[in-house]
Amino acid sequence: MGTIVIDEHYEKCRKILKENISPKRYAHSIGVSNTAACLAMRYGCDVNKAYLAGLLHDCAKGLKPEELVSLVESEGMEISESERDNPELLHAKAGSILARDKYKTGDDEIMGSICSHTTGRPAMTLLEEIIFTADYIEPNRTNIPNLEEIRRSAFVDMDRTIALICRNTLDYLKSGRSVIDKMTTETYEYYSNRVNRSKE
Ligand SMILES: [Fe+2]
Ligand SMILES: [Fe+2]
Repeated sequence: MGTIVIDEHYEKCRKILKENISPKRYAHSIGVSNTAACLAMRYGCDVNKAYLAGLLHDCAKGLKPEELVSLVESEGMEISESERDNPELLHAKAGSILARDKYKTGDDEIMGSICSHTTGRPAMTLLEEIIFTADYIEPNRTNIPNLEEIRRSAFVDMDRTIALICRNTLDYLKSGRSVIDKMTTETYEYYSNRVNRSKE
């Protein structure tokens, strides 16, 4: 842990990001960056990594569908049928590649946390859990059921918070077909089991 260093690299990334995504998405990214730094302080994660990963997590949002597909393909990453039908789902995987190539942030932990930020996954690293949660609770978010409770919970119990977020997302999606549903279901099951086990 340490104080947040708004270093030259962060500033460079912030400027490039601002030119490549919408003003609304940029405001969201700054919100996630700051919230991730706060959560990192709470849970003893590297504050500067969280700050940078939060800033960059949606950096591929400005890409066109065909650009998302070709970027992810160029890396040899698998693209599922539902991702092909809905390339927007690929912004997390594509974002991890852009973070490395365009933003010169090739840190494996940061790339991993960008890659899993939409759906989470079972047994995430602490940084992944922080970015996943910060994306959901940052100050610009509104119209989310139980948002106040989830925000409070985020600073108390990370496992419970992730289970709550996944539950909300699954209630919202309810289709049970897309990759988002499948991975979110797995993430939900893993984290709600962990919460239940800790009560035993
Ligand atoms: Fe995203
Ligand atoms: Fe986001």
